[in-house]
Amino acid sequence: MSDKKRPFRTLVIKVVDALKAGVPLRNSYHYFKYAADRRSVAKNRRFRKAQKAGGLAFPPPRLIYCVAAHHDQEQFDRSGRWAADFIKNVLSKNGRTLEDIPAILDFGCGCGRIFRHWRDLAGPQLYGCDYQRPLVRWCRTKLGFGQFERNGLLSALSYPDRTFGLIYAISVFTHLDRQGQLFWIGELERVLEDRGYLFITVHGTTRLAELSAEEQRLFNAGQPIIHRARYSGANVCATYHPRKYIEDVLVRRLKLVEFLPGGARDANQDAYLFQKG
Ligand SMILES: C[S@@+](CC[C@H](N)C(=O)[O-])C[C@H]1O[C@@H](n2cnc3c(N)ncnc32)[C@H](O)[C@@H]1O
Repeated sequence: MSDKKRPFRTLVIKVVDALKAGVPLRNSYHYFKYAADRRSVAKNRRFRKAQKAGGLAFPPPRLIYCVAAHHDQEQFDRSGRWAADFIKNVLSKNGRTLEDIPAILDFGCGCGRIFRHWRDLAGPQLYGCDYQRPLVRWCRTKLGFGQFERNGLLSALSYPDRTFGLIYAISVFTHLDRQGQLFWIGELERVLEDRGYLFITVHGTTRLAELSAEEQRLFNAGQPIIHRARYSGANVCATYHPRKYIEDVLVRRLKLVEFLPGGARDANQDAYLFQKG
């Protein structure tokens, strides 16, 4: 049914958007559903109980939902481990050992799904940043081996030029509108060392079924597709990137080292490794 035929719904959406309440309302709704589901709550409890003493704490389910759209702590742990190994393996295949990189940035670190698995990584200084205050606060309190900071949705990072030998942004450009994507690629390039690596994952080749026929045509012609751009930064904004756009427009100043269609299996996304200079 068109919006004209549902004026009340359209009005509610406008009011919710004006109050910037869409994402918090959606998150709260899903949290209450989780909290009422005894099996899911008990599964998380069992998982936490089974952890060895001295292990890292797990983020509360409501924070996990902000980054992963589920509340399952075991899945959060398992998928983060997989992603950390994936990053390590792609770098190592290209002759770079993580231990030898002096400084690494997790851009859009969320509540540390991947970051937590660097706890025993000897060598690099580890940094994480995100624009969502509760996520950064949780990382600062619970992941003491890293340095975390909150950035604005569209504001420069506080790090000096050429600080990092590796920056990774896992499932972050997947949720940015055009302006956000271009701004953040520029900013990440600025803080990347010469010869440093940028590793990103995007919705791409494995997500075509989520697009309409017309969107697929545009995607195949090299256009990015953005759903709900007004929520840029939040998971409800979903962006789809064809390789042509990534190479010719978005990341055109860096050298493409490796393209792995569907390679980020933890998130069903394409992965790209770039190098500066
Ligand atoms: C789908 S989650 C992925 C989180 C994490 N990278 C992971 O793989 O678990 C997207 C993350 O990007 C963050 N994000 C979105 N826009 C951002 C921006 N402009 N600056 C920093 N973080 C951003 C969100 O807050 C969220 O934590």
